[in-house]
Amino acid sequence: MSQNQNFLDTRSIVIIALMLIAFFAYLIKIYDLTQEVHTRDAAELQAAVVERIRPVGQVDRSREVQKISAPTVKIVPEPEPVATAISGLQVYNMACIACHSAGVGGAPITGDVVAWSERIARGAAMLKKNAVQGYIGSVGYMPPKGGRPDISDAEVEAAVDYMINESK
Ligand code: HEC
Repeated sequence: MSQNQNFLDTRSIVIIALMLIAFFAYLIKIYDLTQEVHTRDAAELQAAVVERIRPVGQVDRSREVQKISAPTVKIVPEPEPVATAISGLQVYNMACIACHSAGVGGAPITGDVVAWSERIARGAAMLKKNAVQGYIGSVGYMPPKGGRPDISDAEVEAAVDYMINESK
């Protein structure tokens, strides 16, 4: 009887051992499955979701970027000082000659020493200020910069210097 009992014990130990192994295998499998659920937050799965829900179309701005970047590269080597250095004579011929060669509206004629002597006596600074800002004098109206606001103050002043030198 005791032998039989031992046999049963050995068999039940084996059965229990098998059941334990099966149980641990089951636990390991459950652990695997739950880990998989958690990996849905992983970066590559998130990327896959973003890829699935991304918009159908996108505006192609690659050409625009080229357009913007191309001229900024070009601007650098462009020679600047060509337009800025206009002589007094050039400004005079461009903006002043219309009135000051024929005396339009009482404008003092360039080269008329008598007409300019009184004005030159008031000082070049005053004449330049009046030419830049414009003024109404005793004989007529001198428009600011001769009606050419695109000309710089320095260019108008250069033209005044030219007129003074021609009228001394
Ligand atoms: C639309 C005609 C007109 C144009 C264009 C013109 N002027 Fe005159 N300017 C006048 C007249 C008119 C006077 C005289 C005003 C007065 O003394 O009553 C005058 C006077 C002047 C005087 C004398 C100022 C003073 O204080 O006595 C200067 C200097 C002068 N002009 C410079 C210029 C220059 C430089 C230009 C070109 C950038 C120019 N003008 C273009 C009509 C003109």
